[in-house]
Amino acid sequence: MTEQDLQGFNTLGLPARARALYVEGEADARILSTLADAGHEVFVLGGGSNVVMCERPRHLVARVGLRGIGLRREDREAWVIEAAAGEPWHDFVAYCLSQGWPGLENLALIPGTVGAAPVQNIGAYGLELDQRLEGVVAWDIQAARRVELAPEGCGFAYRDSLFKRAGAGRWLILAVRFRLPKVWHPVLDYPDLRTHPALAGGEATPGAVFDAVCDIRRRKLPDPALLGNAGSFFKNPVVPAVRAEALRERFPGLPAYGQPDGRVKLAAGWLIEQAGWKGRRLGPVGMHERQALVLVNHGGAAAADVLRLARAVCEDVRARFGVELEREPVLLD
Ligand code: EPU
Repeated sequence: MTEQDLQGFNTLGLPARARALYVEGEADARILSTLADAGHEVFVLGGGSNVVMCERPRHLVARVGLRGIGLRREDREAWVIEAAAGEPWHDFVAYCLSQGWPGLENLALIPGTVGAAPVQNIGAYGLELDQRLEGVVAWDIQAARRVELAPEGCGFAYRDSLFKRAGAGRWLILAVRFRLPKVWHPVLDYPDLRTHPALAGGEATPGAVFDAVCDIRRRKLPDPALLGNAGSFFKNPVVPAVRAEALRERFPGLPAYGQPDGRVKLAAGWLIEQAGWKGRRLGPVGMHERQALVLVNHGGAAAADVLRLARAVCEDVRARFGVELEREPVLLD
């Protein structure tokens, strides 16, 4: 266990130094449990794309380096693919396509690792991870044992799971198993995708959906390699239907999507834009000029700058719409 500079390991590019341990196998996971047992507070870090790092975190950071992808089994209906937690997510999606295992293309270009994907139940362009999941292999840091969880056991909800609710010190995801149906149906519910030139006209293919998703993301979302960010900084707020109706009466342009449970999801990006924060800066950070939901580091920011802007945005959205925004990235402190 050594102290490490973690600025290159968080996509917001915030300066941070912490004690860190590199986990490459179950033996390392066991060491982590011993350290946790001895009183060290553990924080499991994947690709660092959904985290706000404080400068001197007290946590011991477990950096996940587990690698490997393979076809675990197949039946008449589906391929079951297993990927180790440390595999970069986008490369994994692209690899599956190249092997003739489509089904994850709507989730192309999401930053981060395979192991982090179930933690926040990543989702984009009409597809959520839990719709393609066969199971999760995880190390229970507290109990020092390996467990296999079926999707029903993972407590998935919008951008949420049992792993996220337990905090970053309880579960170390070792591998994720995906069930990819052999009969492929394109998921084209998202309007920008349906009408994308790569898909208009001819028949939709997995490759065309992949290309269209990559193109839409590249146009809307800043590349963390060029401009530090952690993707959507807030969740889209989900409110009771009556509340959404009242808001829509006052603000007819507010995008709102009915949820299976009867509640309504509001577009946080729209609320933030209307509150005047799109493209606006506060010190070295700001809300992105093309997607107001994405907080960006224009250079030299630290965690305190990020949290100050997040507070200001929340306050303005609350004052104007009476809606509470919830931060999506977790805090490493
Ligand atoms: N909007 C605005 N102004 C903005 C941004 C958005 O008015 O600055 C409006 C859009 O016009 C649209 C609505 O808000 O009507 C929704 O916007 P968008 O389609 O860009 O998606 P989002 O709800 O802002 C979510 C995910 C993204 C995901 C996209 C596409 C969350 C928190 N974010 O964003 O995920 O890529 O849908 O499915 O659910 C991420 O989590 O990092 C992420 C990028």
